Amino acid sequence: FIEPKLKGKKIIVTAGGTKEAIDPVRYIGNRSSGKMGIAMAQVARDLGADVTLITSVKTELSGVNKIEIQTADELMAALRQEFPQADVLVMAAAVADFKPMTVADQKIKKNPNEDIFTIKLTKNPDILKTIAATKTNQFVVGFAAETQNLLDNAEKKLNSKNADVILANNVAQAGAGFGVDTNKMTLLQKNHTPETWPLMSKVDVAKKFWDFYLQQ
Ligand code: C5P
Repeated sequence: FIEPKLKGKKIIVTAGGTKEAIDPVRYIGNRSSGKMGIAMAQVARDLGADVTLITSVKTELSGVNKIEIQTADELMAALRQEFPQADVLVMAAAVADFKPMTVADQKIKKNPNEDIFTIKLTKNPDILKTIAATKTNQFVVGFAAETQNLLDNAEKKLNSKNADVILANNVAQAGAGFGVDTNKMTLLQKNHTPETWPLMSKVDVAKKFWDFYLQQ
């Protein structure tokens, strides 16, 4: 028996990498598996929360409201709808920094005379920053996947993105980051010393995070 300590809380979790359309059959994407976000949603559900999972990856997870999205623009639109009523936002999605400037309405054909094909990209909005700037009393959690200067970069994100907490991990480290079932996280919170947790399963990271949240 798990005590439903998050009962009555409306929690939004975003998961997976955005897929930025090039044409009706192709996209630009990234390697995010969505596992960290799905674990966050699963544990919040188990603790009795009302969970909305906004995801670009298919998941069997039951007992949560699922909103499927592909692009950063769709993710932003879904969050604009859901965030005002939420108590917590866990922004685990790997949002593409850029999207194709135009999306072709038909499948782009190969040109036999061209060996180089150029796609012009335009910046996606920073969704976390934009949405968190509208917060009333929501608790906002961002992620930082870094390959170097982990703490410096994560600290900057904490301040620039209006987040209450940043969960940072070094994706260059064995057992941490994309596609694996484990993660080694550092939790950063304003006016607190960063706290580094041991390597553990993503589900255990989620349990540790929700324990931390419940102590706030
Ligand atoms: O800036 P960076 O991509 O490293 O920041 C990571 C955090 O910001 C994650 O929580 C991610 O979901 C969020 N993010 C966002 N919109 C972007 C880029 C990142 O919400 N365009």
